[in-house]
Amino acid sequence: PTNNLQMEGSSNLRWENCRAKGGSPGFKVAILGAAGGIGQPLAMLMKMNPLVSLLHLYDVVNTPGVTADISHMDTGAVVRGFLGQQQLEDALTGMDLVIIPAGVPRKPGMTRDDLFNINAGIVRTLCEGISKCCPKATVNLISNPVNSTVPIAAEVFKKAGTYDPRRLLGVTMLDVVRANTFVAEVLGLDPRDVDVPVVGGHAGVTILPLLSQVKPPCSFTQEETEYLTSRIQNGGTEVVEAKAGAGSATLSMAYAAVKFADACLHALRGDAGVIECAFVSSQVTELPFFASRVRLGRNGVEEIYPLGPLNEYERVGLEKAKKELAGSIEKGISFVGK
Ligand code: NAD
Ligand code: LMR
Repeated sequence: PTNNLQMEGSSNLRWENCRAKGGSPGFKVAILGAAGGIGQPLAMLMKMNPLVSLLHLYDVVNTPGVTADISHMDTGAVVRGFLGQQQLEDALTGMDLVIIPAGVPRKPGMTRDDLFNINAGIVRTLCEGISKCCPKATVNLISNPVNSTVPIAAEVFKKAGTYDPRRLLGVTMLDVVRANTFVAEVLGLDPRDVDVPVVGGHAGVTILPLLSQVKPPCSFTQEETEYLTSRIQNGGTEVVEAKAGAGSATLSMAYAAVKFADACLHALRGDAGVIECAFVSSQVTELPFFASRVRLGRNGVEEIYPLGPLNEYERVGLEKAKKELAGSIEKGISFVGK
């Protein structure tokens, strides 16, 4: 061992052997970008998840410290750290689920698309590693702009001959989490009792909350509809501006990422009725990718639900969303074609 990352692994050996003998259940999960603003709380929360037996933390900086820190938590998952490109393959080998929050975040005044130039290349490299080392893993892609990075990932997997559209999911859970929170505020309900489908994509007008389909059934005035739609679409910008240059949503995103990853793991385990919104390869509209409610199962996305009845406000919103999404998707696809 040349660094404390590998030492960390070997100190767990006896315990790992003991687990292996017991045929312990549990999934192997990698976080790529694990030392970042999202990565650190996400790693902590995944270490607390009883469905995880092995947690691989990969980043190009600072994984030794994060790994040492998190590995002291007295929960079941074994934690191992991996630092730098030369350890990417070891980080990915054998993983069931790979969660990707690697890449730069926005500063005030930027759009998510302004992150494309840096994050597109990062996502391409990481996905090439996935194709090579764990082609059957489920991928939860968080890096922005999600509307373009998911098409990039799909193209990389296609090139490598490993593409399974059911296993590639762009994470839009934070939009749902925000929608539940803001709608609950307006209705005077507990957010845990509210379920708002959010479809389309993950940027500005492509984020389309379907307020006519909120559960429990309710109705909104036109003013409430406009306020809620705008607040949900601009939730990310609200945080970017409040952080004033220090990044974008990290804590609420880690919460949302874990909620989504946990749903994927329950589905992989074979639990029935796991339904979440995600940005996936889709035939719900004429676009090749779209976020909508999907049913997750052992193979990833097993069913994609139609959008359901939309009101006039939502139909107009859908047209705007599709227009912007088409360009972002095309931009991602042609990046890999280059
Ligand atoms: P951050 O800068 O705090 O952390 C990013 C981490 O990625 C850093 O630790 C960095 O070292 C690492 N990294 C950079 N290049 C890498 C590479 N090649 N391989 C592995 N790791 C690499 O940023 P953050 O706040 O954690 O945000 C990360 C990304 O998530 C951003 O693109 C942000 O826009 C996005 N995001 C998405 C959502 C969503 O809802 N999908 C929500 C919030 C943020
Ligand atoms: C969010 O919705 O919070 C993220 O996409 C980060 C951002 O840039 O807004």
